[in-house]
Amino acid sequence: MGDNVIPLADLRYAAERPRIPAELSLPSGLLPDRLGRPLRDLRISVTDRCNFRCSYCMPKEVFDRDYRFLPQSSLLSFEEITRVARAFVAHGVRKLRLTGGEPLLRKHLESLVGMLASLRTPEGDELDLTLTTNASLLERKAHALADAGLKRITVSLDALDDVVFRRMNDVDFPVADVLRGIDAALAAGLGPVKVNMVVKRGTNDHEIVPMARYFRERHGARVALRFIEYMDVGSTNGWRMDEVLPSAQVVERLSQVFPLEPVEATQPGETAQRWRYRDGAGEVGLISSVTQAFCRDCNRARLSTEGKLFLCLFATRGHDLRALLRGVQATGQPWTDAQIAAAIGLIWSERSDRYSELRSAEAPASDVGTRRVEMHYIGG
Ligand code: GTP
Ligand code: 5AD
Ligand code: SF4
Ligand code: SF4
Repeated sequence: MGDNVIPLADLRYAAERPRIPAELSLPSGLLPDRLGRPLRDLRISVTDRCNFRCSYCMPKEVFDRDYRFLPQSSLLSFEEITRVARAFVAHGVRKLRLTGGEPLLRKHLESLVGMLASLRTPEGDELDLTLTTNASLLERKAHALADAGLKRITVSLDALDDVVFRRMNDVDFPVADVLRGIDAALAAGLGPVKVNMVVKRGTNDHEIVPMARYFRERHGARVALRFIEYMDVGSTNGWRMDEVLPSAQVVERLSQVFPLEPVEATQPGETAQRWRYRDGAGEVGLISSVTQAFCRDCNRARLSTEGKLFLCLFATRGHDLRALLRGVQATGQPWTDAQIAAAIGLIWSERSDRYSELRSAEAPASDVGTRRVEMHYIGG
């Protein structure tokens, strides 16, 4: 392919070329968007590939042999990711989460972890550096990730029953390997581990109590299980409201077996409402983006595998940061760190996204004709 031919895969989501402000001001670390929300959390997707085919994320019919994933040349390099992350930290980001697709499929991921672990806040503190994984490769990789500087980990797991789990991942992957991955993460010092379960009514809601029982009994406070309302992200998963089990019902079902009491939120902008077992066996979280949207304090930005910045999980357009990382100014000089940071500051200061709050509880918003970003491409 010639130099000036843009591979088709790069055009999958519209992305604007960021503007560079005429006057560069130094990032203050206190950057409000239009709704007064600061920037605190950057979620970095390192690959759009996954070895699972969960129907709510990468349904087999769409993500088949013919699906064209991003070519290697499109991906941000580890140096590019670190350069972008540094600019975000200057603007106030304190948490970095690596996602995918499945992030552990990206080669030499430990090197990126090491590079990100060496970043410091303006006050000289370490960042909260974490990763979301399906844990299929975790048993093998947990130690190397911890040694490289990863602080903690979140595992996606939708069922404990092997038949249900194999059906949900749709590649016949056994649950025992995931459970060994969680054990390995704890042994490597990556705890407390969060386990995220997307609840689909009629598919895995009967697994709520068995999941709670397993993690309480085996790991107590070293694992926090979180129940996630199935969301209408992307446009390939055929979302229907009647498959959403409201969190209030999850709490009801759990407390019939294991009495619970609410825990006060500690972090502003937290996704989960926390509950603790009254008998002291740890806690669970409820992530209720459908029935109780939490956009009001949303401090999360998302960087796609090929360097597009998305300001909302439900965004239809991104901001092409890679164009700045790889492009040149009119003078022929590369863009400077200060210019890139200023461009990011401008993008965030103009943000007003609050999709989940706007969506009516009955149906996804009517954005027919615009293509929403997919979860496998941008991470959770
Ligand atoms: P911790 O810092 O470990 O508590 O992580 P977190 O809860 O901020 O992030 P995580 O990736 O574990 O989020 C869990 C799930 O919540 C995701 O898989 C999504 O389903 C959902 N989620 C996370 N962030 C957002 C968001 O900004 N908007 C919406 N609507 N859902 C989100
Ligand atoms: N609704 C809720 N959560 C989802 N995830 C993926 N698709 C959805 C959806 N439709 C979450 C999975 C995984 C993370 C990568 O994103 O739980 O933990
Ligand atoms: Fe499933 Fe996560 Fe892979 Fe999506 S990225 S198919 S949710 S394992
Ligand atoms: Fe943030 Fe968008 Fe999620 Fe609302 S829907 S919490 S604005 S990412």
